Amino acid sequence: MDHFDYRYGQMFCEDVPLETIASEIGTPVYVYSTATLVRHARAIISALAMLDDPLVAFAVKANPNPAVLATLAGEGLGADIVSIGEYRRARAAGIAPSKILFSGVGKGATEMAEALSGDVLQFNLESIEEARTLSQVASSVGGTARIAFRLNPDVDAGTHAKITTGNADNKFGIPANQAMEAFRAARELPGLEVTGVTVHIGSQLTSLAPLESAFVRLGELIAGLRSDGFNLKIADLGGGLGVPYGPGQPEPPSPDAYGQMVARVTKGWNMRLAFEPGRLISGNAGVLLARVVRVKPGESRPWVIVDAAMNDLMRPALYDAYHHIEAVRPSGDRTVANVVGPVCESGDTFAMAREMDRLKEGDLLVFRTAGAYGAAMSNGYNSRELTPEILVNGDNWALVRRRIDLAEASAMPLPGWLSA
Ligand code: LLP
Repeated sequence: MDHFDYRYGQMFCEDVPLETIASEIGTPVYVYSTATLVRHARAIISALAMLDDPLVAFAVKANPNPAVLATLAGEGLGADIVSIGEYRRARAAGIAPSKILFSGVGKGATEMAEALSGDVLQFNLESIEEARTLSQVASSVGGTARIAFRLNPDVDAGTHAKITTGNADNKFGIPANQAMEAFRAARELPGLEVTGVTVHIGSQLTSLAPLESAFVRLGELIAGLRSDGFNLKIADLGGGLGVPYGPGQPEPPSPDAYGQMVARVTKGWNMRLAFEPGRLISGNAGVLLARVVRVKPGESRPWVIVDAAMNDLMRPALYDAYHHIEAVRPSGDRTVANVVGPVCESGDTFAMAREMDRLKEGDLLVFRTAGAYGAAMSNGYNSRELTPEILVNGDNWALVRRRIDLAEASAMPLPGWLSA
């Protein structure tokens, strides 16, 4: 459930008409709902309430906006980070290091040093080579890094190939048959304390079965490690639970069903469980609000050209992702149209042959479920500006990222030989 609803014939975010935001800030613009963020955070916390002291760490990559992170920090969430930039944002948002998990396949030594001096809860490592680097870093700064290794369980997550991470041929994690060796080697390295295990098999999962298979394999690894004398404390089960993207799209399992499956599979592990949901929390808490530039007749159906493009919301171009499109003022006059942006690539297509309200030049529309991996992945292709972001809270709203021109003179200085 979200807080983007129609009142008096037009779409509101909570108590704010989207038309107000469009006229004051311009379009395209991302709009997030505080009430939806909070609702989703509470839904996953309550679905896991039967566990002993679970840690819910928001996957910052899904939506790193400082205001979004501060809202989630206020609900007690921690952070799953994959770069020192994400670490700094999480800390600035008020998230304690004791709630931060450092994931990612290619952490650099300077990133490790900064996160270690901040005393993050656990480094989720992906290779023994990475453990060696962290050990050197820990020795040089005189600290101890708590570490887990990520298992690659070789299960098919049943999601898009580009967001699948737990197959044997993905770059992530360590295969089951090499995991024990990695843990034993890390045990001998100075400056490291082996505290946990982790697994994450992919994103936008719409079935619990692959997650359950991965957790069962993680349980087998835990049993093996325990009999080898490891004192394990934290099992980080990653993120990945899908969200509904709209009519005709696969319905994901509920957070409650996920929580029940986790409780059943992890019974007897006697470990603190950690979770890294991203999309589940912020996906349906955001829309991309855009305006129709013009409608161009097509061979079989019209091209609705909007002022948002693939640089603002990459998911359709990258993953053929479906984003539900709705008119801000629906007329009820339904038609079938192609919706595209102004960027000079055929891939700049949001929807082909989409059944939707008939739109004309100047009309506003929204792309739904854009609060995760939307603004986070936006870029300045075609010398377009980075889309601004708005956070709504009841009848209050604020600009939480201004429109950014990446070609600002200070950001792109001319070398001496080119400046006059
Ligand atoms: N933990 C780890 C280690 C991850 O790599 C990810 C996502 C998450 C947690 C959060 O996953 P979530 O709960 O959001 O599914 N750009 C793609 C999604 C990439 C996900 C990358 N890793 C998209 O737009 O669909």
